This record gives sequence, structure tokens and C-alpha cells, in this order.
Amino acid sequence: MTRRSLLRTSDLTPQDALSIFELAAWLLPRLKPASPAPFKLETLRGISTALVFIEPSTRTRVSFELAAKLLSSDAVNVGAAGSSLEKGESLRDTAMTLNAMGFGLTVLRHKCADAAELYARYFDGPVINAGTGRSEHPTQALLDAFTLWQEGLLREGARLLIVGDIANSRVARSAATLLSRFGVRITLCAPPSLMPPAWVNSATCSGGVKPPVSAGGDADRRLDAAATAQSLSSPYPWIPDLDSALPGCDAVMLLRMQRERMDGAPHTGLSEYAKLYGLNARRLGLLPRAARILHPGPVNRGVELSEAVFADPRQRINQQVTNGLAIRAALLCWALGMEPRG
Ligand code: NCD
Repeated sequence: MTRRSLLRTSDLTPQDALSIFELAAWLLPRLKPASPAPFKLETLRGISTALVFIEPSTRTRVSFELAAKLLSSDAVNVGAAGSSLEKGESLRDTAMTLNAMGFGLTVLRHKCADAAELYARYFDGPVINAGTGRSEHPTQALLDAFTLWQEGLLREGARLLIVGDIANSRVARSAATLLSRFGVRITLCAPPSLMPPAWVNSATCSGGVKPPVSAGGDADRRLDAAATAQSLSSPYPWIPDLDSALPGCDAVMLLRMQRERMDGAPHTGLSEYAKLYGLNARRLGLLPRAARILHPGPVNRGVELSEAVFADPRQRINQQVTNGLAIRAALLCWALGMEPRG
């Protein structure tokens, strides 16, 4: 039986992703809460799944737990609070303990970038990375790519604009890695203060567009750094001005300001951010009619997007959540080499 871990996004070939999408597409109508008969498969019966979430999560954790249960796996939650991690037990010892109990698979979320690799050294079954540090969130990348696939946008030359706190976003990094493999053209939109520092230095920003400048206040000055630092050594083009970037995209992905990952660095003021980078009613008018709007959640209404976005037929935010359940169910089968059909 094939057993596969998913530790980082670059482990996934387009072929892997497409086979996970096919399975997810088959599962999707069956997993819908409104489906006529309660749907439960026997595929993972007898396999226990450890959900080791050492960072807060709603969508990712709950969708993995529900997916595991719908596939008849016994899912057990191991959070930091209430576990021996709180008493100082190392992640290595947690892995060895859960391994000794016979868990067949682990889904891991952790604040350290290399946590999944470390854990996998001490755990025999597949390990699925459910978000580590700022660097990796491969299952989010899969559900984002699946959503674009449904919309006919997972193709060579489709243009995705990623807006916001790129510096702290594992979602942006993982999505860019996976989607580029399908030929999707990624453009980043953020002030330099929200770009990864290593990416802001050498080359020129795309289009020679000047970043927006606001007036007055500390937060303004931080955003105004955009006016002086107009260089970038990023693997992806950068357009600091949202208004100029929106008309040229097929899809836009908005990111949350991840203040918990800002490590005491000066915060960009939220109201200034909303003014310069928030998707609002006026900016919806700049977005092409056929474009799609994505957000990984959790959403800060009034910051990265306004209420008007939820009423806009181009947004696919809840569809992403629904897709997350199907993708994670498909991924559990893929990791364990199980085929739920027939
Ligand atoms: C993301 C995460 O945890 O990285 N959320 C998610 O998994 N749905 C993005 C975020 O926290 O903003």
C-alpha cells in the first residue's frame, strides 16, 4: 500500500494535485450537508487520525476532523492546551507517543517552519502539513487550486493577484508554488512593509507604478515607506498599487493581516491598510466582470474586504470552505493509498 506524507507544497506534482482534485470532485456532492442521505464511507475504518494543532484553527482543523469522521477514521484532537506539550513535552516526544499508540496518520499544524519534517522523523505513518510557520500550507494551496480549477482558471497564463500581508503568509507562498506549476501567473500586491524582507531590495517593481501614499500618522508613515522602497527581488512581479493591479487579473486572493506573526515589528494600521489595500465597493468596479475573489479565511471584515464583497457574485469564499472539506477527505485517502470508490 502506498503511503505518502505531504510535508511541503513542492512535494506535489501537478499530476498529484489533479488526482486529488478528481477524488475531491467525486466526494464533493456526497459530503454536502444538504445531501439526501447521510454520507459515510468505510474507507478509513480502523485507522486512527491524530489532529495535532499547536496553533489556532477553525476551517483547517474542523474540515480535517469532519473528513476523517466521514471516512470512518477515529479522529483524535491533540491541541497544545490540555496536552503534555503544555508541560514542556517536545514535538519529537509527542510524535513518538502517538506513534506508540498506533495512530495511522497525523495532521500537524505548528508555528515552526520545520515542524512537519521533524515530526515525520519520529512517526511511521503519513504526516500532512496543515500549516507551519510562515512558509507552508500545502492543503490550503490545494483547495485554492481546486477552486480555480472549478472556475476554469487553473491554466497557463491565468493571472492571479495576491493582495496583503505576503510577509507573514504561508497561504501566499504555498499557493504561488503550486499554481505556478500549472502556469498561473502570480502577481503580488502589498506595501514593502508587508513584503518578505528578502524580496524587497534589488529588482524594479512591476510596471513602475508608484505605491499609494496616505496622509499623516505613524501608520501612514509605515505605509509611505512604499513611496521610497520601490525595489524587489521577488520570484513574482510586484505591483504595490491595488487600483492599478485589479483590472489586469482573472482572480484576486486577499490575505488577512496576520498580526500574531508580526513579532513586535511595527504594525501597519488597520484603517490605513483598509483604505489602501481593502477590497471595497469602489474597487469591485475595477475588477473584471469574470474575475473571481478568494480569501483563505479567517476574514477581518472591514479590513482586507468590505461587506460589499460578500454580496458580490464573483466571490468564492464559502465555496473555498466547502472545497476544503472535499480536498482534505481526498487527501486523507491519497496519503493512505486508499480508493473510496466502488
Ligand atoms: C490561514 C492560516 O492559518 O495560515 N488560514 C487558514 O488556514 N484557513 C490564513 C490566516 O490565518 O490568515
